[in-house]
Amino acid sequence: MLYPIARHFLFKLNPEQAHDLSMKYLPRLLGTPLDCFFRQNLPKRPVTVMGLSFANPVGLAAGLDKDGECIDALGAMGFGFIEVGTVTPRPQSGNDKPRLFRVIPAEGIINRMGFNNKGVDHLVAKVKEAKYQGVIGINIGKNKDTPIEQGKDDYLICMDKVYDHAGYIAVNISSPNTPGLRSLQYGEALDELLAALKVRQQELAAQYKKYVPLAVKIAPDLSLEEIDQVAASLVRNGIDGVIATNTTLEREMIYDMPHAGEAGGLSGRPLQHKSTEVIRHLAKALNGALPIIGVGGIDSAMAAREKLAAGASLVQIYSGFIYKGPGLVKEIVTNI
Ligand SMILES: Cc1cc2nc3c(=O)[nH]c(=O)nc-3n(C[C@H](O)[C@H](O)[C@H](O)COP(=O)(O)O)c2cc1C
Repeated sequence: MLYPIARHFLFKLNPEQAHDLSMKYLPRLLGTPLDCFFRQNLPKRPVTVMGLSFANPVGLAAGLDKDGECIDALGAMGFGFIEVGTVTPRPQSGNDKPRLFRVIPAEGIINRMGFNNKGVDHLVAKVKEAKYQGVIGINIGKNKDTPIEQGKDDYLICMDKVYDHAGYIAVNISSPNTPGLRSLQYGEALDELLAALKVRQQELAAQYKKYVPLAVKIAPDLSLEEIDQVAASLVRNGIDGVIATNTTLEREMIYDMPHAGEAGGLSGRPLQHKSTEVIRHLAKALNGALPIIGVGGIDSAMAAREKLAAGASLVQIYSGFIYKGPGLVKEIVTNI
């Protein structure tokens, strides 16, 4: 694998430039002799989760391909599923730059992107164009300028538009970078949102004559008691899956490292242990009622196995993929 060389040059750019450049050129390389640098034929490790068939349990986490512009190139790397988004009803530019930082000594990332995306219509057009045969999850959120009390409407607008094109729909209520969003994880606000999404799911299932599972994505910063409450609400509302976890607001693990003081969510290796503990507790609370997609700091086959042992049925990677490249997908799929 030539990723270390590519990374050497990409890491000379600022993180967002490196991201944008990769996203621009990867699709252009696809189908040319140069795609041998990232195309991988991986062994099959079939699993069925949420009623969906996955060629292997390793997925790309949300946020890397927010607009669905790189699905086929990422698919060629061997992912069993790709989660695109977070997408919002209307396009929005996100927070001011700089908003993405590498914490290199810990192989971490801090981001406060703020759901920069081209809007749900653009995303749906891109998903329709994609030839990727794996499962495509579509992660939905709310616009920054939609008051939190009307947040539910944004999720419903997105759900209506993506339903017919998604393998599953991920409901993001755990990004730390949209003010108020995480408040939807608690108490009545959570129950109300999930109940509304469930009703709409049943209506859409009847309309399109197919059932598209709903998975809720949660933060790693919930207390054990809060995790119990979320689990009970997921079960009560018939939600099909839970994605644990998003990025953390905690900084203890990197307190003296570069960029530790930047606002935003921390991901990568510093998050690994914390997200595993959330999954472990969640698995106990759910007692098999619905499957867990484990994400947070997975940077090796061993780290992926740890998530599975804690109770996850599928795993996703983001930061590990930035530091290790497509070889990480191969390492995990081959050794899982
Ligand atoms: C730059 C960046 C942007 C992200 N954007 C999103 C997003 O739009 N929606 C979302 O649900 N999660 C987003 N995430 C969180 C990841 O999907 C994942 O949950 C988190 O990074 C933990 O996994 P990791 O340690 O493998 O990176 C983002 C993460 C990063 C690093």
